[in-house]
Amino acid sequence: MARMITTAEDLPPVYPPSFFQRIYAYHGAKPQAAWSQAHDVGTGTGIVSAGLAGKFDRVVMSDPNDGYAALGYKIMVDELGIPAAKLAFLQEGAEKSSDRHRRCRGRVSPPAQSRRGTVVIAYYSRPRIVGNAAAQQVWRGIFGAYAEKIGALGALYDRGLRIVNSGLENVELPGAKWRAVKRVYINTGGSVEPFALDDRTAESKVGEGEEKILEEADED
Ligand SMILES: C[S@@+](CC[C@H](N)C(=O)[O-])C[C@H]1O[C@@H](n2cnc3c(N)ncnc32)[C@H](O)[C@@H]1O
Repeated sequence: MARMITTAEDLPPVYPPSFFQRIYAYHGAKPQAAWSQAHDVGTGTGIVSAGLAGKFDRVVMSDPNDGYAALGYKIMVDELGIPAAKLAFLQEGAEKSSDRHRRCRGRVSPPAQSRRGTVVIAYYSRPRIVGNAAAQQVWRGIFGAYAEKIGALGALYDRGLRIVNSGLENVELPGAKWRAVKRVYINTGGSVEPFALDDRTAESKVGEGEEKILEEADED
């Protein structure tokens, strides 16, 4: 059954403090780390922005889908009491946002950019029921049936499934442009299998200089 989210109480569980602490520890270790602005791309109902607003002076919330800007305003300002002056709401997709950021970056030299800013790409997948292989198998079957349906919709969906199945490992972050890349896997049992919705695979593009961090038994 479809459900409409209208209030903060209706929100899905918020990300745990450890989600933000990991990001802040990485970002804060940069000698010229800037805390002036965060941009939450694909903000949806703003549950990530609600956390970021406690740390950054200003939070830009963007989502291409209709209605999220108004809903974000209602939840963040009216219900959570975050000052409207701290927030900006944009109805735009990541493609447009990244174009805008590229134009801004043109005014700052590349070494300064990497010292001041951080890009975080977060992804979660199907539930993992630790210690119950049979239940896990059932989940895998349900998500497999879903993936088969959407995978049949065309090449774009097939590609998307391969990307998520690989736990984003086939997303290349070329060393010439990206520094201090960390790929953090939380409670994945040391493999990308828990991310997979079906058996489609993709070539790994994890670079040699990148750091892979496996965090197991994270209670959060
Ligand atoms: C799974 S939800 C995540 C929402 C929220 N960030 C969270 O963590 O709960 C994905 C969001 O991405 C948005 N989205 C879809 N296509 C997008 C695009 N091209 N650029 C940016 N956001 C997009 C959707 O409208 C949706 O709100």
